[in-house]
Amino acid sequence: MKYDTVIQGGVVVTPGGRVRADVGIHGEKIAAVGTNLTRDANVGRIIDAKGHYVLPGMLDVHVHLALPFCGTVSSDDYYSGTRAAARGGVTTLIDFAIPYEGDSLAKAANNWFEKAEDKALIDYTFHICITRWDEHQGEIGSLVDSGFTTFKEFMIYAAEGWQSDDRAMFGTLELMREYGAMLLVHAESSRVLDELIDRHHTPELMEELGAQLHAMTRPNFIEAEAIQRAITWSEATHGQLYIVHMSTAEGADMVKAAQARGVPVLAETCAQYLVLDDSVFAEKDGHLYACCPQVKKPADQKRLWHGLKTGEVSVVSTDTCTFTRQQKAMWNGDWTKIPMGMPGLETLLPIVYTHGVLKKRLTLEEMCQRLSTDPARIMGLYPKKGAIRVGSDADLAIIHPRNRIKVDPSKMETNADWSPYEGWSLAGFSRTTLSRGEVIVDDYEVVGQAGRGKWLPRKTAGLRQ
Ligand code: URP
Ligand code: ZN
Ligand code: ZN
Repeated sequence: MKYDTVIQGGVVVTPGGRVRADVGIHGEKIAAVGTNLTRDANVGRIIDAKGHYVLPGMLDVHVHLALPFCGTVSSDDYYSGTRAAARGGVTTLIDFAIPYEGDSLAKAANNWFEKAEDKALIDYTFHICITRWDEHQGEIGSLVDSGFTTFKEFMIYAAEGWQSDDRAMFGTLELMREYGAMLLVHAESSRVLDELIDRHHTPELMEELGAQLHAMTRPNFIEAEAIQRAITWSEATHGQLYIVHMSTAEGADMVKAAQARGVPVLAETCAQYLVLDDSVFAEKDGHLYACCPQVKKPADQKRLWHGLKTGEVSVVSTDTCTFTRQQKAMWNGDWTKIPMGMPGLETLLPIVYTHGVLKKRLTLEEMCQRLSTDPARIMGLYPKKGAIRVGSDADLAIIHPRNRIKVDPSKMETNADWSPYEGWSLAGFSRTTLSRGEVIVDDYEVVGQAGRGKWLPRKTAGLRQ
């Protein structure tokens, strides 16, 4: 037998559970998982994984790189963003192609291809964002035929020109059913949200409460009502629905109840909703933490962890949308002007490993399910991605079970000059990351070349195929 690389002696997390084994790689694929693979074999390179976990490469299926948003452009592009991803053990990302004013969906996809090519270090694809239903609906079929099976609608962001209404969601879900595709929804109730923002938008309150108004104007019912409405349209149409960045306990309860009735709804949460709560907005520089939806209360965190354990929450992503301190300073005391979003790609696996696995909220296998296997399945990328098994891409993250690194933005790959987790001591950074058999992170340092990442065409989405 000939292997280009053998990962030797680690504890390997396979779909059947963890085993002490070697992983043999031939070309871009996993060729064998077993013991003593180097014996009687022609082996190019041996990577020692003794004392380490060998995990399937993680997928971050909710990322915004170089996104024009909130009057500026998110500061991580495909160069820095995919380097950050690789260092965090993420080997596949999915971004959102959002049409610029007047653009078709095909043009939006092309714009995002241009951002990615020559820069991407890891493999990637895009969710296609429908922002003008009447114009865009006719393109959906041809985009599915070209390999895009996930679409996105925002229930808010009228000012960005991105907002979709109930008619658009209903019509899109009908088409999702017809094409076997999936609609992702940003669920927040825009009319009541705008009303609450108007009521609080006074110089006196801004002086007194600053960034805390971001959380005070988005009570949990803003998300819950919108999730319930989106579920209603999915139940009526049988169109596959996926709630992005779910942040509330109420949302998790509704998704669970809908799934029990057979509604084709899935949900993701993000790392920040699991470990941060809205007390951050009272801190000095609390405005840095503004993302949309905002982080909620400890009770919400607890419910979301439980949802990951029991399965009504299928995926953890990051909603990475990075702004530097200088960009965040645009708020100048008015919370409605804060560029919304946070860095996250580099810390996704370390956060979920340290606060999930080491705190016994999830097993190592469950973590791999929520960060790798389930996102790959749901986004139509399994078994190419999402598993250590023969025939899958050799996308791997090798982590030490206990070694911790203190989060220091000056030593990270992201262009952000701050981190919500600055000073946190996290285990689970990737010592070695492989993408399609190639080592792209070695001894915690990025070594892979920009531009090697490939677009991933897809044929399916959701869990019903
Ligand atoms: O704050 C966030 N999440 N920014 C990106 C846009 C979105 O809603 O996902
Ligand atoms: Zn969103
Ligand atoms: Zn987002």
